[in-house]
Amino acid sequence: MTDDGAQPGAGRPGAALGPDRPSVVASPRAVGADGGGEDAGGGAGDACGEAVPLPRRIDASLARLRAAGVGPGAATPFPAVAVVAGSGWDALAPLLEDPQDIAYAELPAFPRPGVHGHAALLRLGRLTAADGTAVPLALLRGRAHAYEHGDAAAMKGAIRTLAAAGCRTLVLTNAAGSLDPALPPGRLMLLADHLNLVQRTPLHVVPADDPPGLDRFVSLVDAYDPALRALARAAAAEAGLPLREGVYAWMLGPQFETPAEIRMLQRLGADAVGMSTVPETILARQAGLRVLGLSMITNLGAGLDDQALSHAHTLAQAQAGAADALRLLRALLPRLVVEAQAQAQGAGGPEAGCGSRPPQPPLAQPVRDPAPEP
Ligand code: HPA
Repeated sequence: MTDDGAQPGAGRPGAALGPDRPSVVASPRAVGADGGGEDAGGGAGDACGEAVPLPRRIDASLARLRAAGVGPGAATPFPAVAVVAGSGWDALAPLLEDPQDIAYAELPAFPRPGVHGHAALLRLGRLTAADGTAVPLALLRGRAHAYEHGDAAAMKGAIRTLAAAGCRTLVLTNAAGSLDPALPPGRLMLLADHLNLVQRTPLHVVPADDPPGLDRFVSLVDAYDPALRALARAAAAEAGLPLREGVYAWMLGPQFETPAEIRMLQRLGADAVGMSTVPETILARQAGLRVLGLSMITNLGAGLDDQALSHAHTLAQAQAGAADALRLLRALLPRLVVEAQAQAQGAGGPEAGCGSRPPQPPLAQPVRDPAPEP
């Protein structure tokens, strides 16, 4: 969804990320974007199939990155900031200079393609800030959703690979329905918190995939990092964009809500509703990444106006809002990169943990004995 038509590997592949980087031309893939989005598979890689434990698939993904000259053991560090592109937000892709694309199909820990012919690519490139400095970024063009197969952990491998590669901040973007007519379609929302009404978790332990001792009792207080939210507010002000902060309610989908459900969500204190992001936030916090969440409002919740909701409507509205989303990202992402790099220095360098959460054990390897469970 929201594929921008940019040519994978356009420009001089890898030129800004390291010398003599192999050009990677990825075939069209089909991982959906969010918000009444499209089908996609999550799971194992082609070369390294579903039966292969996740730590090995993460290792294989890191090896693929290394072969591209990026990440641990390579000449160029993996970008400190990664963005998961939801509907409308993929407009960022053509702005990344010297893009280097790696198909999810070549990253065995990343979700597998689904049925539609859209991008499932990791794009590495540089974004030039207003002051002319170019900052490195990773853009995940396509995500897997729990609504496709019931698996809330569909992005586990991708997010753990990012963390193991050296990413420190994850920006999760989505399309969402508004629960408040004062937050109309076209507006952007900064996630302050979420409601996991689906009551599913990506943290069920899969013995082959999860290192023993990995903390699954993850705190979600300030899951959406307050300092990063302050940067987002400053960026929105600079870009002249209103940016409401609010609570995002995760509903499983893929069906839209009933009007009664929308009234329930309003009473529960939610400001927007969508079908993605929450499992990724949980996984990212477990992995020690700092999280920022952004919604593009594509519609009012079911029953709040006469608009018939559909996937096509979500997509059309997401495209209509893409220009504002892009303006915000252009102002925000350089700030996030500077912040992540400063924090890395303060924490003792790029290998020294990340985020406002204490460093976690490496997710690709066994760690320590399981802690007693409450
Ligand atoms: N509900 C759930 N997800 C959505 C919506 C909605 O109204 N709009 C975009 N994604």
